[in-house]
Amino acid sequence: MSKLWGARFNKKSDPLADRFTFSIGYDHRLAKYDCLGSMAHAQMLAKQGIIPQADGVKIVAGLKKILKQIEAGRFNFDTKAEDIHTDIQNRLKDLVGKPADKLHTARSRNDQVVLDMKLYCRHELVQLMASVGILQNSILGFARKNKDVIIPAYTHLQAAQVVLLAHHMLAYIEMLERDKARLLDCAKRSDSLPLGACALSGTSLKTDRAYVAKLLGFGRVAANSMDVVSDRDFIVETISACAMIATHLSRIAEDLILWATREFNLVDIDAGFCTGSSIMPHKKNPDVLELIRGSSAKVVGHLTEIHVLLKGLPYTYNRDLQLDKPPLFDSVDTTKFMLLVLSRIFETLKVRKEAAVRQTADESFFTVDVMDYLVKKGVSYRQAHDILGCMVRDCLDRSKAISSLTIDELRKYSPVFGGDVKNLFNPGMSVKIKSSFGSTNPKLVEQQLKTWSKKLHA
Ligand code: ARG
Repeated sequence: MSKLWGARFNKKSDPLADRFTFSIGYDHRLAKYDCLGSMAHAQMLAKQGIIPQADGVKIVAGLKKILKQIEAGRFNFDTKAEDIHTDIQNRLKDLVGKPADKLHTARSRNDQVVLDMKLYCRHELVQLMASVGILQNSILGFARKNKDVIIPAYTHLQAAQVVLLAHHMLAYIEMLERDKARLLDCAKRSDSLPLGACALSGTSLKTDRAYVAKLLGFGRVAANSMDVVSDRDFIVETISACAMIATHLSRIAEDLILWATREFNLVDIDAGFCTGSSIMPHKKNPDVLELIRGSSAKVVGHLTEIHVLLKGLPYTYNRDLQLDKPPLFDSVDTTKFMLLVLSRIFETLKVRKEAAVRQTADESFFTVDVMDYLVKKGVSYRQAHDILGCMVRDCLDRSKAISSLTIDELRKYSPVFGGDVKNLFNPGMSVKIKSSFGSTNPKLVEQQLKTWSKKLHA
């Protein structure tokens, strides 16, 4: 099929150049958005009297037919077309004949492609938000099922203090909520109509951009034609939001991978989400989680790719910009897939409750609680830290449990110790005595679970 710009040349383009420059192989994914944008554009041209009403009607009817094919999955893109804009233009010509030649009035592929990409992003940002919500829900379900489980929590990957498992899960939910906010923020900032900027300077034809914006549901009309055809910030931001999600999912995956080891022994990943070894028959490997962790590398890589693509570009449009699509599409696809798979993993995840009980029995988890005990009795924080430091060191040296010290032995460290300190040496008490807002206190955690339930089901 002919190119949209062929007439100027006295020679056909080299097949190798075609292969190198054609974007139809990936931008065919914009077909639906290209049709929708063109329909609005044709309606505007007809309303403004720039093209005859009858032509406008024919163009819109033709585009509707193409759109139906696309939506029914019967649209096979033409590999001989340079890009999706050319492909749809050619098909329209086949369908409606001459009026199709008027569709490209008062626009350029430079603003057209930005419109298509914005419509794509708008759709996908909503999908991504929904997928994050589904993951939050399945994490919440897992937290509720295991409300009473207490687990060790770590800093420096060294056992630190005990927390409710649900508290840990709520931390993930908070993190993912910020991801949703970032997606929404990106959608809001991209809510301006690019079409009508034309090549870069606008047009002398009497277009009505506000009308097109209204038809396509944009809140604003982009105010500078040069900015429109240069701007790919909305793509950087979409990939960036995906990269942040991917990084978050990678961290969650890493926690679960560790917890599923014999050494941590906290969770059992459903066999449907594990694989075996070709040589070691006993193995049950968390490959699916490992690939969630691994896939995040791709998305973070795409963020670098898009930044490098843009950083040296002179204003305004340059063909380099065509290459914004593969990293965007793959970031969105990969992130959605990761979200879906991780949601399923949480739905089927089991906690090894007895192991959790065994692991949280270690008394060193409660040293901060004993310090708080001393502080409540008037000992300074610094002094309390020293007292506990000495106790821990002596007990380690003598292979003794702190809880086995007699009251007389305890009083050698501090005269304020009473028998009641012994109540502190259990994980249930440790979480219960936390009372600050945002802490792992069971009542507060229960409240948070309820709040999130309402919020996520709203
Ligand atoms: N395939 C091109 C892209 O994605 C469409 C715009 C082409 N514009 C041009 N002036 N060659 O950027």
